[in-house]
Amino acid sequence: MNSGADFIVVANRLPVDLERAPDGTQRWKHSPGGLVSALEPFLRSKSGAWVGWPGVADVDVEEFDDDGLRLIPVTLSATEVRDYYEGFSNATLWPLYHDVVESPVFDRTWWDSYVKVNHRFAEATAAIAGPGATVWVQDYQLQLVPQLLREQRPDLRIGFFLHIPFPPVELFMQLPWRTEIVRGLLGADLVGFHRPGGAQNFLWLARRLVGLEPSRAAVGVRTRPGLIHVGDRPVRVGAFPISIDSAGLDGMARKRDVIQRAQQIRADLGNPRKILLGVDRLDYTKGIDVRLHALHELLVEGRIDPDEVTMVQLATPSRERVEHYQQMRAGIEQVVSRINGEFGKVGHPVVHYLHQSVDRRELVAFFSAADVMVVTPVRDGMNLVCKEYVACRHDLGGTLVLSEFAGAAAELTSAFLVNPHDLDGVKNALHAALTIDPAEGRRRMRALRRQVLTHDVDRWARSFLEALGSQGLN
Ligand code: ADP
Ligand code: G6P
Repeated sequence: MNSGADFIVVANRLPVDLERAPDGTQRWKHSPGGLVSALEPFLRSKSGAWVGWPGVADVDVEEFDDDGLRLIPVTLSATEVRDYYEGFSNATLWPLYHDVVESPVFDRTWWDSYVKVNHRFAEATAAIAGPGATVWVQDYQLQLVPQLLREQRPDLRIGFFLHIPFPPVELFMQLPWRTEIVRGLLGADLVGFHRPGGAQNFLWLARRLVGLEPSRAAVGVRTRPGLIHVGDRPVRVGAFPISIDSAGLDGMARKRDVIQRAQQIRADLGNPRKILLGVDRLDYTKGIDVRLHALHELLVEGRIDPDEVTMVQLATPSRERVEHYQQMRAGIEQVVSRINGEFGKVGHPVVHYLHQSVDRRELVAFFSAADVMVVTPVRDGMNLVCKEYVACRHDLGGTLVLSEFAGAAAELTSAFLVNPHDLDGVKNALHAALTIDPAEGRRRMRALRRQVLTHDVDRWARSFLEALGSQGLN
């Protein structure tokens, strides 16, 4: 029997995902998404525990040790995957919190399942936490856990961080279970968002929905958190923009085999003059269609020569049973075919679309090979891909086109910032990025790197945990 853990991350997913082959064999692979990309390197450098779902329904996996990290699997039934994960988390909260870019579905049975699963995560955590331990609850799938955990274990220090945007109050107010969610989050000692605007919205809701008296001063970035008293217990509410393992990626991009692989990728693509790159989970918030439409129009107008420019779009499969995702995938695959049908040649498609996840080294080689990184979400809490690209460009090559609607835009101001709803603006930015003067490109990249290398995930985690007053950081 293991002793109680002092530092615990609780997230819907474990950092590793169980994959079952049709022949019944199974293996663990890296879990998708930015939450795991950001937290895993940080947590691996500490001794901690991680409570989460192994990624497939109806499997009972014993607690295990993964290279020094203690993993505590939480089982979900097939019905819970449908109702709690695909339903309430990803067809209600995900679109609601991303500015209703798709219509959220409000379904009472999904809510019931969300409550039940949040209880299970809270119980699993309460069972392994040592006295006075620090528990860091992650993201929109688990917003009730802080309160549920506090009811069972008032001795714990509880932090909560939301990895996606927190919506404008008018949108949040649509949610039939809005008060329960706000109360759930108020169970934490510190509630963190990427941007001060999210923190400010939450403070307003605590007053309006729970009748509390939050502080009124503006919340800063990593400073001046807001304060709410729940009875005599203080709850702090702050902004902590997440980041990446910048030095790790910078180091990987300098490795000889990665540099050679980047050259090989260019050669395999036919050594085009310019390579555009998109890297995303296949999600409707990411604006993959926006960049494809922009590219298509630039080709039609003759502003881009298909013999000179090639685009690669890597798209990790995601939430494939949710209807919004199925529709979006079909739409994107249609535009890709259209562009290649109209402008491709035998052996030379204009768009190389890979509906696949690639490993870290390969991804770094793609970043190193790309002249223009195109990141055009219609809404994104932060977006780590743009930061990863910058961290990989020690050569000061490459240009970043970035949506103003990604949280990262507030930090990466030397990118070509675009409004993804303004197609002409996106086209002009793509064109400018493709034809940029090399000295200007280096100047911009230098400024971007200064930001990304000095604001890494370690700084993010430390600033959050310091504000939480955690002792368990060694
Ligand atoms: P989200 O968390 O919404 O997926 P982020 O940009 O914050 O978006 O994080 C995505 C993470 O997933 C990044 O670390 C990125 O490198 C990784 N990723 C996205 N697409 C792929 C892909 N096709 N292959 C490998 N990694 C990918
Ligand atoms: C985003 C969310 C994470 C989620 C990830 C992958 O990063 O903020 O909570 O884990 O996407 O999505 P998935 O549904 O596959 O876990």
